[in-house]
Amino acid sequence: MRLLPDLRERRRSPELMDQPGLDPAEHRRALDALRRVNWFSVGTRAVWPRIRSYHREHRRDDPSRPIRLLDVATGGGDFPVRLARLARREGLNLEISGCDMSEFAVEHATQYARRSGVEVNFFARDVLTQPLPEGFDILTSSLFLHHLDEPEAIGLLAAMRTAGDLVLIDDLERSRAGWVLAYAGIRLLSRSSVAHVDGPLSVEGAYTRDEARELASKAGWTRTQVIPRWPCRFLLVGEDR
Ligand SMILES: C[S@@+](CC[C@H](N)C(=O)[O-])C[C@H]1O[C@@H](n2cnc3c(N)ncnc32)[C@H](O)[C@@H]1O
Repeated sequence: MRLLPDLRERRRSPELMDQPGLDPAEHRRALDALRRVNWFSVGTRAVWPRIRSYHREHRRDDPSRPIRLLDVATGGGDFPVRLARLARREGLNLEISGCDMSEFAVEHATQYARRSGVEVNFFARDVLTQPLPEGFDILTSSLFLHHLDEPEAIGLLAAMRTAGDLVLIDDLERSRAGWVLAYAGIRLLSRSSVAHVDGPLSVEGAYTRDEARELASKAGWTRTQVIPRWPCRFLLVGEDR
């Protein structure tokens, strides 16, 4: 086992999954590993009550108009697919999309949604070099903030806040417990060598809750909440434009 690194300072290293030319079989295994991690850490449980409240509040007068949600850097798409299942179960009129810079991930996510029997529209977009699409009410993102350096993170948070009414960012928190959990957990959940490397690297590159709040403030968010959640994660909430 690697020695526990010094986590007082954030140390971002490029993750293998973001490298162009990643072997498709490795990429598929890594996306499947993330799906298991997401299942274990139930990110949708943290965001769902807020999505439901938003829906209730904004569609009281016209329930026929859907609430439009975009999941940014969606990877294998399991986060929006799970939201689509919840929406169907609870009868919420949600129109859900997901975007990712990787064409491979978009195809993987599209097939996953089809197999899961839900409608989610996936499309390719590099959210650092291309503008976010318009017309969405809610923007979500899971396990992506830690991929970004500070100016990129501030830029994306500002763009997401401008694009929608409610922004929900779920991510790892940099901590010793989080690093140990990522190191051991990913080895228990998957045999993906890419995920074995990227898991602990993600925690080393992750923001603390205070750092995330500061990023949001620099991005011009006014009413920000940073909510700690199990396991070693936080949910960053921006609303009320
Ligand atoms: C750790 S994965 C997280 C995937 C998914 N959100 C999840 O929770 O499982 C990060 C994803 O960000 C995508 N990504 C990295 N840089 C991006 C960019 N500039 N624009 C859009 N997607 C990006 C990668 O292709 C990858 O699928």
